[in-house]
Amino acid sequence: LLDLEKAYDKPDGVQRGLIAEIISRFEKKGFYLRGMKLMDVKKALGEQHYAEHEGKPFFPGLVKYICSGPVVAMVWEGPNVVASGRQMIGATKPHESAAGTIRGDYALTVGRNLIHGSDAVESAKKEIALWFPEGLSQWKSCQH
Ligand code: CMP
Repeated sequence: LLDLEKAYDKPDGVQRGLIAEIISRFEKKGFYLRGMKLMDVKKALGEQHYAEHEGKPFFPGLVKYICSGPVVAMVWEGPNVVASGRQMIGATKPHESAAGTIRGDYALTVGRNLIHGSDAVESAKKEIALWFPEGLSQWKSCQH
């Protein structure tokens, strides 16, 4: 029942000093950290990641936002992590996200909503390939 979820702190998560808080929530829940890195997002990666929103009025601003500073890309694994992770992250619009969720507790606007989480295992796989082309931790033993 291992499920994959890719998540990343958007630039505002890094700029506002909320990385540890966000990671901590996933850790305390018990999910397994499979990949994590601080990275600069090039425009092409931002456009690919948000390809499904291309043509929408907020697309150019969304791409600019995701490129506006380093992000922390993470891969979390665990039972039903996609569904559970999305609950922990909260609704896209911070005014609709429940208190106790990451966006409900720390975000005010949809354009600065701190964190992205994949919406399905299939999209997580695609996003992992996009954000971690080098692959994930394959640790098995000290002798591998
Ligand atoms: P996320 O769910 O991670 O992925 C799509 C993103 O598009 C969403 O977070 C928001 O950051 C952004 N988004 C969605 N709707 C709007 C909107 N109306 N204005 C600006 N950004 C938006």
